[in-house]
Amino acid sequence: MDALPDHTERFLAATSPEHTAVQERMAAHAAAHDFPIIGPVAGGVLRLLARLTDAERVFEFGSGFGYSASWFLRGGADHVICTEFDAEEAETGAEFMREAGEADRVTFEVGDAMETVGAYDGPFDVVLIDHQKHRYADALEAVKPKLAPGAVVVADNVMHGPIDMSDLLAYFDEGVDLPPGDSETRGIAEYVDLVRASEDFETSVLPVGSGITVSALVG
Ligand SMILES: C[S@@+](CC[C@H](N)C(=O)[O-])C[C@H]1O[C@@H](n2cnc3c(N)ncnc32)[C@H](O)[C@@H]1O
Repeated sequence: MDALPDHTERFLAATSPEHTAVQERMAAHAAAHDFPIIGPVAGGVLRLLARLTDAERVFEFGSGFGYSASWFLRGGADHVICTEFDAEEAETGAEFMREAGEADRVTFEVGDAMETVGAYDGPFDVVLIDHQKHRYADALEAVKPKLAPGAVVVADNVMHGPIDMSDLLAYFDEGVDLPPGDSETRGIAEYVDLVRASEDFETSVLPVGSGITVSALVG
């Protein structure tokens, strides 16, 4: 199911920031390997958030080969910590960062992001959650004590991706229960419920890319 009417998606795509030469190669690599990257429309928002928070340190849960990280770097983030299960993806990412002359601004940590986050104290100015959907809520809880004042947490795939948007819509709009077996869709619903109910965050959903939540730490 498309997240947006076709003309809206086309308009956003036509007006999104241009890729750099290395990002263009990253996007081609993603297309060739059918790898899900956040894309330039949502990427432009990541760049903006890094810029607006004057980000020193960004943490990502699930980085692939660093495409989303490249947008944080373009927004002026001093350093991005990337986490990735797959060593080959991380090595490809490190290679892209060397090509871009940005290797010293990115750390690729191979392993489970939920463990890696424990090894860092923060403070993080921006966090991107883009790993296993059923672990989004746990990721937020794990990283919350490490957020800088005014930090922003972004979560991807809240409208599109390995989830059932029809079920999610019925849940939020009509109060229909979610199917018990679909842990990915349930994980997104749990996460959106969590950030919307939390007094520690102000959250909006932005229909860019696969749909992102943007949650600002308040207080
Ligand atoms: C959707 S992709 C990330 C895309 C990336 N954020 C981008 O837009 O360029 C998700 C990645 O997270 C990795 N992943 C999933 N669960 C993870 C975990 N618990 N720890 C580390 N990596 C994980 C997967 O191997 C996959 O490469």
